[in-house]
Amino acid sequence: MSALLEVHIGQKRFANRRVLDNFSAALWPGEIVSLVGASGCGKSTLLRIVAGLDRDHDGHVLLDGVPQHGVSRDIGFIFQEPRLLPWLTVAQNVGFDADPERARDPRVHALLAEVGLSEVADALPKSLSGGMAQRVAIARGLFNQPRLLLLDEPFSAVDAFTRIRLQELLLSVAREHGTSILLVTHDVDEAAWLSDRVLVMGEGHVIQEVAVHDARPRNRRSSAMTNTRNTILEVLEGAHVL
Ligand SMILES: Nc1ncnc2c1ncn2[C@@H]1O[C@H](COP(=O)(O)OP(=O)(O)O)[C@@H](O)[C@H]1O
Ligand SMILES: [Mg+2]
Repeated sequence: MSALLEVHIGQKRFANRRVLDNFSAALWPGEIVSLVGASGCGKSTLLRIVAGLDRDHDGHVLLDGVPQHGVSRDIGFIFQEPRLLPWLTVAQNVGFDADPERARDPRVHALLAEVGLSEVADALPKSLSGGMAQRVAIARGLFNQPRLLLLDEPFSAVDAFTRIRLQELLLSVAREHGTSILLVTHDVDEAAWLSDRVLVMGEGHVIQEVAVHDARPRNRRSSAMTNTRNTILEVLEGAHVL
């Protein structure tokens, strides 16, 4: 099996500040990988580069071995805030991608059913809770059937219970669609529970990889989860992030 994603960035600078420095990572098909690290260590910059949104760097991004030169339908992006268009209905937002007519696409309704939002298909975003809006964003992120979904702190703005439900939803839709996931999170428990591997970043590159061997379905209260969380915390402490 070959890697779905291979990324290597020699250097990424903003003016004279070096933000990524010899960053390397790979993702296998079907994998869920989290990136954790201090604020400002370059996580969002890395995701934007992988998404093709920032091409001003000296590295490469390979998807299935093919160099990427810009945005692609094979790579979806979900942000911290849902970024829904307020004048479009929920269904139109999901199928938007250049053509609001796609709200009629049967796949929109299948996706809304999957994320538990069939009943609000014709509602406007302002009537949704934060958790519901982020479920719309997940459905929209899957509409183009990306091979890889990038998520940048996607659940930071919702309460702890909603967050757990959204993690479960993300895991189930990723499995259902065979989508690989690269997730940036500050939540060590979230990283441990969702991930096959957790990449801990220092300044500009990965300093340690923590493999999570716990079988799924995972119990958040298991000793395996506690051990994984503690390992991640130890690496962060060792890197003086904590
Ligand atoms: N567009 C930009 N112009 C200048 N500096 C930036 C820009 N985007 C990010 N940075 C800087 O790059 C560093 C890394 O940012 P970022 O990737 O957002 O970090 P993280 O997501 O890990 O918190 C920070 O110091 C940030 O201020
Ligand atoms: Mg960030």
